[in-house]
Amino acid sequence: MAATALVNIGTLVTNDATLGNGTLGVIENAALIFEGEQITWVGPATEAPIADQRIDLAGRAVLPGFVDSHAHLMFAGDRSAEFAARMAGSPYHAGGIRSTVAMTRAASDAQLQENLTRLVNELYSTGITTFETKSGYGLTVADESRALAIASTITPETTYLGAHVVPAEFADDPAGYVDLVTHEMLTACAPHAKWIDVFCDRGAFDGDQARAILRAGIDQGLMARVHANQLQAGPGIQVAVEMNAASADHCTHLTDTDIELLAGSNTVATLLPGAEFATRSPYPDARRLLDAGATVAIATDCNPGSSYTTSMPFCIAVAVRDMHLTPDEAVWSATLGGARALRRTDVGRLTVGARADILALNAPSHVHLAYRPGVDLTHQVWVGGRAHRVAS
Ligand code: NIG
Ligand code: FE
Repeated sequence: MAATALVNIGTLVTNDATLGNGTLGVIENAALIFEGEQITWVGPATEAPIADQRIDLAGRAVLPGFVDSHAHLMFAGDRSAEFAARMAGSPYHAGGIRSTVAMTRAASDAQLQENLTRLVNELYSTGITTFETKSGYGLTVADESRALAIASTITPETTYLGAHVVPAEFADDPAGYVDLVTHEMLTACAPHAKWIDVFCDRGAFDGDQARAILRAGIDQGLMARVHANQLQAGPGIQVAVEMNAASADHCTHLTDTDIELLAGSNTVATLLPGAEFATRSPYPDARRLLDAGATVAIATDCNPGSSYTTSMPFCIAVAVRDMHLTPDEAVWSATLGGARALRRTDVGRLTVGARADILALNAPSHVHLAYRPGVDLTHQVWVGGRAHRVAS
């Protein structure tokens, strides 16, 4: 297999503290070699072995491709009018999901596929090389399972979110909907899904419903993740930790107990800066989470209602500016933090044996991701060793 060497890297973020400086394991004047899908060598440029092909990065920064552990890409239509109304003072509420459900049900498979492809190309262009996507805008057996069947052709990280909200036709019978989600819909969706998620919050599902939904999924071999405490402090974090969920997502409203629970658990706190930004909500107390010892990830939450962005650099900039993460912490959370939230060990780091998922920036260091907000800094992205974006 041909070996490709990236040489003349100004700063290389490895996310392995034993290889370089700080938690990010930064090596200056570095080189990296990959063969096929895997990284085979990382270190100072002066020590790099010979490779078949050499790409000179002229002092640019290189970091692991971003790992987006939370996105909702299976939908049709948009909700720009709802966003505009919100910016004029209307509050965000879970019920808005139902308008995307109506548009998604009305869409053809080809339209869903086309929208997905468009969004995935955007994700790759911002440097995301691993992404999760959820169902949750179909809410019938057929619509949820087709969303997951389509999604599973493009990512292994698929999440069954039949429990996004109770659809209008079950408004008078939420228990009947939970029954559908935990039986017939689960049976149809489980073959296409790796994860099960539930929106445990005001206007969606309560703690007991969330427990029952996650339990049913786990019994079918799915792993749990939870939308927790976006709209108010509630049982979401407790449920996530109790069920050994890989991740509790949003964490916008946290009690002291929630923070202690997360810090003492295997559950990653996944923060979604785009959601607070686009719903004009308070930001979660990321500093307290980090200082307590919780593992923190950052994800886009790309969806047409609360966070219609595919840009991880944007999320990093907001996390730094408004959630008080340092640039190093934000970059870690968007790479290795995301990998932890997906319980993946092969991505989120640039070390020997890891996947060759690599982002080269048109900047001398990763700090520029937050320092130059709104600027497209992507020079080139490799996904499993294959160039996705041609150098610019
Ligand atoms: O993660 N909170 C629940 N789900 C999405 C929002 C969905 C929508 O508004 O369409 C979220 O923010
Ligand atoms: Fe979400």
